[in-house]
Amino acid sequence: MMKKKIIVANWKMNYDLHETTSFLRNFLKYINEKKIFHNKEVIIAPSFPFLHISNQISQGTSLKIAAQNIYFKEKGSYTGEISAYMLKSIGINIVIIGHSERRNIFFEDENSLLKKLKIALKHKIKVIFCIGETYEDRNKNNQYSIIEKQLNNTIFNCSTDEIKLIHIAYEPIWAIGTGSTATINQIKKMHKFIRNIFNKKYGNFISNKISILYGGSINHLNAKDIIYSDNVDGGLIGKSSLKIEQFLKIVQS
Ligand code: PGA
Repeated sequence: MMKKKIIVANWKMNYDLHETTSFLRNFLKYINEKKIFHNKEVIIAPSFPFLHISNQISQGTSLKIAAQNIYFKEKGSYTGEISAYMLKSIGINIVIIGHSERRNIFFEDENSLLKKLKIALKHKIKVIFCIGETYEDRNKNNQYSIIEKQLNNTIFNCSTDEIKLIHIAYEPIWAIGTGSTATINQIKKMHKFIRNIFNKKYGNFISNKISILYGGSINHLNAKDIIYSDNVDGGLIGKSSLKIEQFLKIVQS
């Protein structure tokens, strides 16, 4: 059976209550549920305050709602943080972890990302885990060793059972929000590399099964070519997921 393509909208710190709810209602109105969702999984990640209402709006449809972050403690004196247990209580079962903005702006290191990963998995929350190299890394041709190191320090500390709850998002940092995507060739090579190291670590079954998404300046014009490239199982989309016409085109591509 062909794997479903996974399309994830990462809204980052955009949209208020009204913008969030009207986007979701319009999206569900214009999308042809049967046609789209039989071969695609669509996930939207709004901001924390709107997760609950977003989940209510998408109830009874195939659209899924994800959180953009999580904290690695169960509960307690961690002002401003959100736990796995809180997310579960409002029906959120998917979270993005390790986005480069979290790593760079909020100084999340691999040690804390691993803890976030583990707490999410403990609560059976699916994880979209982001990895990616900087422009300098690629210029020095270090992209493969960097990606392998990122996986070794985080994902590769997971058991075979845990891996089943994880999607990988390969997001070259130099392509995020810049308008310049990686070339199809660069994407294919990196995705093949990632699948091969999963193969070495977890064997054939897991490496074929794991979904590897690409992220970084996907738009309605390049989405189809990227998402249907070898070893690419979907896309993580920032800017272009905020315009409903564009996002509908991406999802329909
Ligand atoms: P972009 O963002 O599509 O705006 O490049 C992707 C991301 O940050 O996940």
